[in-house]
Amino acid sequence: MRRVQLNQLTENMTLAKSIYHDGNLILAKGMDKLKDYVDKLEKFGIFSVYVKDDVSVDIEVLDAIHYETREKCKRILNSCFNTIKNQGNLSNNIIDEMVISILSDLFEKEDVIVSMADIGVKDDATLIHSVNTAVFSVLTGRRMNLSEIELKNLAEGALLHDIGKVLISSNILLKDGKLSDDEFANIKEHSLLGYEILLERTNMSEEARKIALQHHERLDGSGYPYGLYGDQISKLARIVAVSDVYDALTAERCYRKSMSNFKAYSIIKQDVGIKYDEEVFKKFMLNIAVYPNGVVVHLSDGTHGIVSRQNKGMPFRPVVRVIDDKDKEDIKLYDLNLLDDYGIYILD
Ligand SMILES: [Fe+2]
Repeated sequence: MRRVQLNQLTENMTLAKSIYHDGNLILAKGMDKLKDYVDKLEKFGIFSVYVKDDVSVDIEVLDAIHYETREKCKRILNSCFNTIKNQGNLSNNIIDEMVISILSDLFEKEDVIVSMADIGVKDDATLIHSVNTAVFSVLTGRRMNLSEIELKNLAEGALLHDIGKVLISSNILLKDGKLSDDEFANIKEHSLLGYEILLERTNMSEEARKIALQHHERLDGSGYPYGLYGDQISKLARIVAVSDVYDALTAERCYRKSMSNFKAYSIIKQDVGIKYDEEVFKKFMLNIAVYPNGVVVHLSDGTHGIVSRQNKGMPFRPVVRVIDDKDKEDIKLYDLNLLDDYGIYILD
């Protein structure tokens, strides 16, 4: 399969991954005549889809966690957010249920290189973001050889890192234009509010709670709420900081198309060692496909193709299925392993 923008859909493509919105099926896998549904998809804030066609039929795009796990976590998180809004307490069991599902999915495979294949949609963007942040964080933590208990704390804190936002007005959170200084200051309160919520209304450990408190702190002291430096920021919060920003940059939102993984990588890379922990970023990148399977890339020799396979630890040099545009129909030419030819590189 491959990922295409809606304006690139052609007659010979069928949908390769079902599309859901709030747990409801919008378009089922296997559907054709996809051009007829462009308006409907755009209304849901969806700008790209996974399709199958002759040249991409054997290319696999794997999710880091099962669809069922993702939906279950979103459902539980939603009820956690509502419980907090209604002044209730969160039981450990309900948080554990999410953490155990995510950990067991991720530990099914020894080595995963992920690109989040979920297509983001308006209504549950915060929930998707929280689950993705937890998945990225646990994968990074595992590469850093964290203990089982540390990984559990990491997953808990990452899932609920933005819980403080339930106390911020949605007019400000969802505001389209530029935020005023007061509004921005208000949003910044979500870290401390989140910590206080977790302290007063859950039995979560201090390590997990600190993730909510410190995930916007930066190594150079430029973060908030306290402007902490370096090691003053907990290791788990330093992991979630990278995962949080990366997912925020690459997610498809109702008001904009997603940024490419490469662009997000380049943006964060500029601040590695300054704002973000170098060791964390190195381990984080071992799990990420900078050019995920299924995306179209342009090569330095003037050809273009679809990424068909990853080379472990070499995120910039995957295997590319070079294709030729013959009368608007793509024809497979050959598979080029970029590890075999260092003279050729991906332009975009
Ligand atoms: Fe946040």
